[in-house]
Amino acid sequence: MKRRTFVKGGLAALGFTALSSYGVLHSSGISYAGPRNGFVDPLPVPPVLENLSTGVDEATFALQVQRGSLELLPGLVTPTMGYNGNFLGPTIKVRNGQQFKVNVQNDLNEPTTVHWHGLHVPAEWDGGPRQLIEGGGSWHPEFTIKQQAATLWYHPHAMGLTGAQVYQGLAGLFIIEDEVTDKLNIPKTYGVDDFPLVIQDRRFFQDGSFAYAQNMMDIVHGVVGNHLFVNGSLWPNLEVPQGMVRLRILNGSNSSIYRIGFRDDRTFYQIATDGGFQEKPVKLTSLFLSAGERAEILVDFAGDSQGAKISLLVDQYAGNRFEAMQFTVATASSTSIAVPESLTTIDWLQENESVKTRKFVMESMGGGRMGMMSGGGGRLTINGKNMSIYRIDEQVKLGTTEIWEISNPSGMMMRLPHSMHLHDVQFQILDRNGRAPSPEERGRKDTVLIQPGETVRIIAKFEDYTGIYMYHCHLLEHEDNGMMGQFEVVS
Ligand code: C2O
Ligand code: CU
Ligand code: CU
Repeated sequence: MKRRTFVKGGLAALGFTALSSYGVLHSSGISYAGPRNGFVDPLPVPPVLENLSTGVDEATFALQVQRGSLELLPGLVTPTMGYNGNFLGPTIKVRNGQQFKVNVQNDLNEPTTVHWHGLHVPAEWDGGPRQLIEGGGSWHPEFTIKQQAATLWYHPHAMGLTGAQVYQGLAGLFIIEDEVTDKLNIPKTYGVDDFPLVIQDRRFFQDGSFAYAQNMMDIVHGVVGNHLFVNGSLWPNLEVPQGMVRLRILNGSNSSIYRIGFRDDRTFYQIATDGGFQEKPVKLTSLFLSAGERAEILVDFAGDSQGAKISLLVDQYAGNRFEAMQFTVATASSTSIAVPESLTTIDWLQENESVKTRKFVMESMGGGRMGMMSGGGGRLTINGKNMSIYRIDEQVKLGTTEIWEISNPSGMMMRLPHSMHLHDVQFQILDRNGRAPSPEERGRKDTVLIQPGETVRIIAKFEDYTGIYMYHCHLLEHEDNGMMGQFEVVS
């Protein structure tokens, strides 16, 4: 076998500036070298997947999971995976109330699953580790979409294979629209003023292949990359209309936590959390997204001159700062859109509706350094347990509301953030260490960052479907190494 080495000196050579500390997005004293060959390629916008049904009440799709290759770095060929293509996947677009059908064909020579992250879905069609599709096999979920407008995503979820398959390119967006979207005066023409941004970092071997080999540090800290891609493109440029633009941002990285903002520090407005519209737009200059989280934002380019170039900055938790992509202001927008006063109303779940409070402790390396090394990651636990598909960890009564209290005790050896994700439900955050969540987190959520030393209380209603679902850390190296459990909704 050919010996492979990591691409070294990537940061300086490629114009990235490493940050010594996290959380300072617009600090002074950092010089932006700018990418050497960057901001030339147009941002690829994943196509909307063709609906094979003619009836308005139906949405039928075909997804093929396949291998491919791609020039992700100039002059190098990277072996990849994709849905209906060589990297990432088409955007699935459905409407609330539609009958959703999809024929999935697995053309990989290994098992996979297709999980609908954030979707309220019957357990048998969730696409979690219990719904394996063998290499060469197929899978045919069919169910009704019962959910408001949101930007969700789909990705593989086979035990122990999730991280590697997502890393190689398996991820796509899943957009739900409804009557609320219809009525709002916001940008909603996909690829014109409404753009998906799938943000992911990667690292490479010198031959161009992904460096997903795992060592102990990778399992503990997650595989964190030194090259940043937006929709599978390095330093792309996006021509935007001189007006209001909507960005649907997914942190599609395996284990990175991002802080996202613009180089000119401009304000923007967050309009949606993981599970859809917030009640009112939230004015921000930067936004945190942990692995798996989404946000929709409105950015107004009306005040920029034609030809103006504005770049997007992405800071990695305890890592690099990337000038991720550039926006070039093109011709005047054909629509006139102001930031709406209000967006929707949310039925806030009340604490007194909860019939049960469950506690979850996310712990890394409880047994010390040697435990992690010898146990192959066996020390990543929730409530002291490593994932077993043969064990149901929690039973929840159908139709009830519960509070889940999730804590990340700062251990003596390791202080790691975790990103807790629940399948099937959209929850609401009650508090972080007793304090109300910040405006960015007020809304429907399916994934929540839990910093070391934090206890976060969430509230959710478990309705419509019985069956077995997952809850897990969405840092995929933690998930693959057992930081996951199963809850069963029972009638
Ligand atoms: Cu996005 Cu269980 O995963
Ligand atoms: Cu999920
Ligand atoms: Cu974790």
